[in-house]
Amino acid sequence: MKLFVDTANLEELEACLKRGFPSGVTTNPAILSKERHCDFRDHINDMIGLLLKYDCKVPLSVEVFTTDADEMLRQAEEFVGQFGHYPYLNVKVPVGWNELAVIAELRRRDIEVNCTCCMSYNQAVMAARAGANYVSLFWGRIRDIGYDAGSVVRQVSETFRSWGSSSEIIVGSIRHIADINEAVQAGAHILTVPPKFFPQMCAHPKTDEAVHQFVTEFQKWQDQVASVPLKKSA
Ligand code: E4P
Repeated sequence: MKLFVDTANLEELEACLKRGFPSGVTTNPAILSKERHCDFRDHINDMIGLLLKYDCKVPLSVEVFTTDADEMLRQAEEFVGQFGHYPYLNVKVPVGWNELAVIAELRRRDIEVNCTCCMSYNQAVMAARAGANYVSLFWGRIRDIGYDAGSVVRQVSETFRSWGSSSEIIVGSIRHIADINEAVQAGAHILTVPPKFFPQMCAHPKTDEAVHQFVTEFQKWQDQVASVPLKKSA
């Protein structure tokens, strides 16, 4: 299982890269819109700058920001022109009938694709068949409409396995820590997680208790040594 960071925030991204665990980064237009107002191309290049600073050779997803298929192709080519110096770039394209043609064309041009906004089994298998390298299923949003996200991911995962498909399942739209564990059990290859969850994922009250005990007992022992004069060697 791989962990991607679902963010466009530079501070959050750097905090994660410093810790060495990210296997990839995903952005989307809504995530980008939360950042300081600037030309988004500069912002993506700042993100790439951080990835390079930490020698992090991992996939970075940048999403098209249009609903028009021709414009998607144009934007994808523009992304490659603007960010292609980072060789691990992939273009996020939402799933859909016209969008499938965009995905297939980008793959013909050897551009990596993350097919995003998949909410169903059918969408995921169509995306994979069109050649998407990554298929993003939106866990929280699937559950919002009362569907069992776990069984959608499980069925997609079993189908991909039976095909020997090279498409990887990314589970996004994570709302709780429990979503991460459940999605992994269901067969997700990759979890893309908002950075606020990572510190929680490292924490445990029994860890705090153990560390506190070790430090306290060591300190007590050292205080005793300090209070007893050391014997001079002959
Ligand atoms: C995944 O790639 C998406 O960026 C993200 O997880 C979307 O989730 P949300 O908009 O439901 O939070």
